[in-house]
Amino acid sequence: MPENRSSDQLAITSSNGTSSNGTLSHTHEPSQTESTVGQLQARLAQVERLAAIGELTSTTTHEFNNLLMTILNYAKMGLRNKDEASREKAFTRILDAANRGAKITSTVLGLARNRSGEMEPTNLVPLIQDTLVLLERELQKYRVAVETQFEEVPNVMAAGNQIQRLMLNLLTNARQAIGEVGTIRIRIAYEAKSNSVVLTVRDSGSGISAENLPKIFEPFFTTKSGPDSSGKGGTGLGLSACKDIVDQHHGRIRVESTIGRGTSFSIRFPAMSGEQATLKESA
Ligand SMILES: Nc1ncnc2c1ncn2[C@@H]1O[C@H](COP(=O)(O)OP(=O)(O)O)[C@@H](O)[C@H]1O
Ligand SMILES: [Mg+2]
Repeated sequence: MPENRSSDQLAITSSNGTSSNGTLSHTHEPSQTESTVGQLQARLAQVERLAAIGELTSTTTHEFNNLLMTILNYAKMGLRNKDEASREKAFTRILDAANRGAKITSTVLGLARNRSGEMEPTNLVPLIQDTLVLLERELQKYRVAVETQFEEVPNVMAAGNQIQRLMLNLLTNARQAIGEVGTIRIRIAYEAKSNSVVLTVRDSGSGISAENLPKIFEPFFTTKSGPDSSGKGGTGLGLSACKDIVDQHHGRIRVESTIGRGTSFSIRFPAMSGEQATLKESA
């Protein structure tokens, strides 16, 4: 990517940590304040998770409905046409649809499992590829093209289902920002200078205004009037969940945006050194 940043392009990096409110530090009951903050954070995490489940359910239901229609129609065709070629075609289509259904189910089950968010050495490439299976049709329907550039990268310590949630949020936002026709570019690469694996999601959408850019990671901040026809968006919880997930992974999230041109989110995950990876694998 050329680094010729135009003056109207904005970038922010999310601040790390949650104790930015310095005024609370002189209270006489710091432990009580801390526990209230802790409770609110846990509650927010729960609300974020529920919002994610709602969106996931809506996507999966749509997808399964499409698959069922395919299976029904080809089963009818196979019954109606007795010749070998038609039946062969019908069975092939039915098999394809059923295989796709099985792939979706295993991805969704994977997302539901591991709620504790246990970290393990993870290759981001196949993980992100699995996530794309879920949204493939939806993106096609909205005429959004997806281009991927996946390089060979070291493992990172990650909770797979969390990363998938992060990815679903970023892709849904990108798709919604595009509106009509556009492109989403997803890149995974190793960055030596920070010894990290960088995941970039770049869209050709509307961009984010200078006024809104500092607010987008705040819980409940949204510019959308409600869920779209796919049942997604409008809660303002997508990016706050992304930020939480990135923090849990000791990563950094950065956004760059140009109005009318698009937005790019990049997330840096600390790469595991070869030694760590081996230790973990043999443990
Ligand atoms: N890729 C993007 N392009 C343009 N605006 C975005 C993008 N991602 C997020 N935003 C802005 O950030 C806001 C917050 O996003 P999010 O937390 O996912 O909530 P929601 O999608 O429910 O509005 C969005 O309402 C939108 O204004
Ligand atoms: Mg969103």
